[in-house]
Amino acid sequence: MSDPITSMLREDRVFEPSAHFLENIGAIAVTDMASYTRMYRQSIDDPTTFWGAIAKDFHWYRPFSTVVQWNAPDAKWFADGTTNVCANCVDRQVQSGHGDEVAIIWEGEPCAPEPDVRRLTYRDLQRDVSQTANALKSIGVRRGDIVTIYMGMVPELTIAMLACARIGAPHSVIFGGFAPNAIVDRVHDAKSKVIITCDGGWRRGSVVPLKKNVDDACEKLPEVEHILVVQRTNTPVTMRAGRDLWWHEIVAAQSTECPCEEMNSEDLLFLLYTSGSTGKPKGICHTTGGYMVYTAYTAKTTFNLVAGRNHVYFCTADIGWITGHSYIVYGMLPNRVPTVMYEGAPNFPAEDRFWAMVARHKVTHFYTAPTAIRAFMKWGDQHPAKHDLSSLLLLGTVGEPINPQAWIWYHQNIGAARCPIVDTMWQTETGGHIITPLPGCTPTVPGSCTLPFFGIDAAIVDDKGEELPPNQGGLLVIRKPWPGMLRGIHGDRDRFIETYWSRIAGMYVAGDGARRDERGYFWIMGRIDDVINVSGHRLGTMEVESALVSHPAVVEAAVVGMPHEIKGTGIAAFVTLAPSFTGAADDSLRRQLAEHVTKEIGAIARPDMIRFTALLPKTRSGKIMRRLLRDIAAGRDSTQDTTTLEDFTVLAKLRESDE
Ligand code: PRX
Repeated sequence: MSDPITSMLREDRVFEPSAHFLENIGAIAVTDMASYTRMYRQSIDDPTTFWGAIAKDFHWYRPFSTVVQWNAPDAKWFADGTTNVCANCVDRQVQSGHGDEVAIIWEGEPCAPEPDVRRLTYRDLQRDVSQTANALKSIGVRRGDIVTIYMGMVPELTIAMLACARIGAPHSVIFGGFAPNAIVDRVHDAKSKVIITCDGGWRRGSVVPLKKNVDDACEKLPEVEHILVVQRTNTPVTMRAGRDLWWHEIVAAQSTECPCEEMNSEDLLFLLYTSGSTGKPKGICHTTGGYMVYTAYTAKTTFNLVAGRNHVYFCTADIGWITGHSYIVYGMLPNRVPTVMYEGAPNFPAEDRFWAMVARHKVTHFYTAPTAIRAFMKWGDQHPAKHDLSSLLLLGTVGEPINPQAWIWYHQNIGAARCPIVDTMWQTETGGHIITPLPGCTPTVPGSCTLPFFGIDAAIVDDKGEELPPNQGGLLVIRKPWPGMLRGIHGDRDRFIETYWSRIAGMYVAGDGARRDERGYFWIMGRIDDVINVSGHRLGTMEVESALVSHPAVVEAAVVGMPHEIKGTGIAAFVTLAPSFTGAADDSLRRQLAEHVTKEIGAIARPDMIRFTALLPKTRSGKIMRRLLRDIAAGRDSTQDTTTLEDFTVLAKLRESDE
């Protein structure tokens, strides 16, 4: 039976730009489709003129004389220019007389009796970031050293990132939901000597033991010299003398003056680890000038931000993912529109938390993920209905394809049928939006991310790189460089080439299957590799398999995605037990294995279904037939040719096996 929330209701309606939006937004970034088409053509045919003009609006110490140099797969943007991202986010606003405007509106999770709200102006940020930057210098952080950040969503997280950018120390932010082992791999790969964390983080009324997780990780990381700890939950933590330092002690003691380092445009700004098909998570490299220009310009255009028009922007992502990097911090601050940062869960203390926040802060722009929208639908219409959401002008979604039901629900229940929805398609690797409607301009169709952003030469091609006719599914590729593109995988040139550039010469292969319809709109069909998108969070099936086989009861495991009502994709694990395991293959073991995965990776990787099987379906050459497993997990009759299956009885047994 199809599920009422995730089933693909047909929805062919076209939603034209909203009159309410056009009247209230202040100024339209791109006014009509003819302008879009003209600007798009220029951005592709003459990127030097197009991006050169946009980049000139930023502060450069030494202006760039070249815009782009392209020697596939290596791109350099604004290569001889020098700049500093923190200066463009913070100092420039202060210097231009806007220092007392609000830059960040932060709300903590605990909210009794009153919500805990902090508003930081650009001047506050300049002072706090400078002191933090000086604190980092005082513990030996130098330009080029990679600093790891593992924190909850507190203002100090943004301050820490900006402090790193200020002194030219790239950061590597690890999502606070990851387990100690995930920290070990990432710190090790980045060779970080300094980690910034919190004593704990608030999540649904409980404390996440962030410092304890770092301590556990550091047992395997003797190279870590200092841990800087923000006091947030006041929970007891162990502070090792000489290594561990309290943020409030060391930062407060610093000078409030710290000059910005003059960075080369192609200097590393940050690493962000993300999952791939094979091996450990890869550190995606983003550099200074191109990323800065691309995130700020996409934010300004896709969200139609206008400074000085009382816009308030709220993105519900965690900064531990690329969405938070690009569209809570780096894309937002240069646009001088306040960005809301929320610490906790969407359903704490009740399911109306986001709507209470929208009303409280008069949010005009709201950006979330389809998985969250499906949860809101399930929780019920009464929650948004209780609050005044009339400040909203624009809604956005990101992270996975949005099913038309969720789109329509969002449109009606949150947007009062008058806010455009921008379905923004992009990736950790792309730095910013690559395919998205422009509000007030692009007619939208629920479920389609519509048209490429400026500078994105996106196409659907076959395995040879030939462009496919409308409605034929193929590979999503980008054929030209764009400023926000990744510059590499940290320390692994071969993997960079192999993953993105080897399949079709000279083209960036995104890893998604997609089609274009007759009007040229893109429809993303999902990942074509062994990456799954669980609640909009990216996971490699192999990471979950490795976690499962590290349990003594398991000899082999195969993990695939399966349809899930809220998460979009859930995790199905097929597990073969070790002959030496003498216990029962029952629910208690399922729970133990799920716990084990949570402990190894984090709660986002917890399997939704575990099936025990004596054998996994394999081809004669020993490859696990994942498509078959996907069909079984989804309860579908398999369409896959099984003639290469080594042992036919495996299939029958798998179908019989109970959940
Ligand atoms: O499969 C696409 C999906 O998310 C993948 C990228 O994941 P990540 O690097 O974690 O970044 C997520 C946030 C930018 C893509 O390869 N994806 C992202 N946005 C969309 C999407 N799929 C369909 N529609 C989207 N709007």
